[in-house]
Amino acid sequence: MSASGLRIKSPDLLVAESGADLEGHGLKRTMGLFQLVCFGVGAIVGTGIFVGLSDTVAEAGPAVVVSFVLAAITCVFTAFSFAELGGAIPVSGSSYSYAYATLGERTAFLVGWCLLLEYGVSVSAVSVGWGQYLNELLDSLVGWQLPAALSAPPGDGGIVNVPAVVVMLLAATLLARGIRESARATAAMAVLKIGVLILFCVIAFTAFQDGNLSPFAAQGAAGITSGASLAFFSYIGFDAVTTAGEEVRNPRRNVPAAILICIGIVTVLYCLVALAAIGALSADDVADKPAALSLIVDRVTGSALGGGIIAFGAVVAIASVVLAVMYGQTRILMSMSRDGLIPRVFERISPKTSTPVRGTWIVAVVFAVPAAVVPLDVVMNLTTIGTLAVMAVVNVCVMRLRRTRPDLPRRFRVPLFPLSPLLGVAFCLYLIYGTGPATWLQFAAFLVVGALVYAVYGRRHSRLGGGAGKSVAEVPPKG
Ligand code: ALA
Repeated sequence: MSASGLRIKSPDLLVAESGADLEGHGLKRTMGLFQLVCFGVGAIVGTGIFVGLSDTVAEAGPAVVVSFVLAAITCVFTAFSFAELGGAIPVSGSSYSYAYATLGERTAFLVGWCLLLEYGVSVSAVSVGWGQYLNELLDSLVGWQLPAALSAPPGDGGIVNVPAVVVMLLAATLLARGIRESARATAAMAVLKIGVLILFCVIAFTAFQDGNLSPFAAQGAAGITSGASLAFFSYIGFDAVTTAGEEVRNPRRNVPAAILICIGIVTVLYCLVALAAIGALSADDVADKPAALSLIVDRVTGSALGGGIIAFGAVVAIASVVLAVMYGQTRILMSMSRDGLIPRVFERISPKTSTPVRGTWIVAVVFAVPAAVVPLDVVMNLTTIGTLAVMAVVNVCVMRLRRTRPDLPRRFRVPLFPLSPLLGVAFCLYLIYGTGPATWLQFAAFLVVGALVYAVYGRRHSRLGGGAGKSVAEVPPKG
């Protein structure tokens, strides 16, 4: 417990419990830098660019590129903070663990609660997007689609979204088998989807017309702002790299490096894709179109084959997001469970596979329910605001940890400190503003429920607080 009365868990204890500086702990250290970058790209590039781009264009018009840049700037400042914290406290809990080490247990629990939006709810949403593109692919391959009753939720004219459920169960099967297999599959998918987006750019740029860029910002600054909030969804997932802290070789070096490499790759890629898309077709033609990237390639090449290839890329890309994000959710729950804030079943690691098998299946089954019956757009905004709130907290954490633990080894340090994390907070708040009042209210209600769950269960069972879970001795902060 800190002097301020907050339940703060020292970074030394977090690291000691996770075995971050040891080999041969519960989870296997099998991932190197390349695999980690692939894992990050795997978690990032998916529904946002393949499905959400056309919604962003509808808001921002040709200024969609500005929206993507604004979202990227938010991510870059926050990525610096994640990189410093990921190197200083290389454990699986990601932002949840950083908040526990700096701002106390209640904030950490709420961060973990918001991570259910960023990971769990988002995995449902992303699986729904996968189902849409699977149908698109079937259509271009065999001219047949799954009937709406079996491929859309009730709100969208269907009964149950079977493909969305199937992709989640497949991802759970792979994750439960072991991280080596999962990392290999994710790496292959990441390379393939980058290739598909590059192919899209090459094709679309051949039809680039300057005239398509004007009027550049028909809906003004308001359109660019809400476009930036929508574009932000495409960047969600770069912090998933930090959830692999306990399965990475040399995490203090590889975790920060991988975060920065990932964010650099996707920023360049997204801006090029957005520019190519609106340069090839006018913003009006792209706006609100499902499978816009396939549509553009079809129009430019004059054949359905190109669009089919893009649809195939989307199916692969989105599947790898499901895999990586579900992985991240299980690791965060594992950390919260270790701390006693949620039931212990999530921390159990199977001796056979070295993975949290039961936790993985619980996550898959619970979040398959919204995937089966909830439309994509309903959960996208909530995922975005939850993630932005977490990122704002992470920027605060990095400032606080510099004050409370200046002695902690840091392989990476945020440049321009404290300007960078302060700007990170400001940009997160700006994008939260862009999500609009309806989302603010839903998010506030979600936080209230989280605070109640903490009061009723988490606080009482906290191991740090000596609750029902097995108590652990806290290592006092140095200095
Ligand atoms: N960034 C992830 C995606 O776009 C959530 O699918």
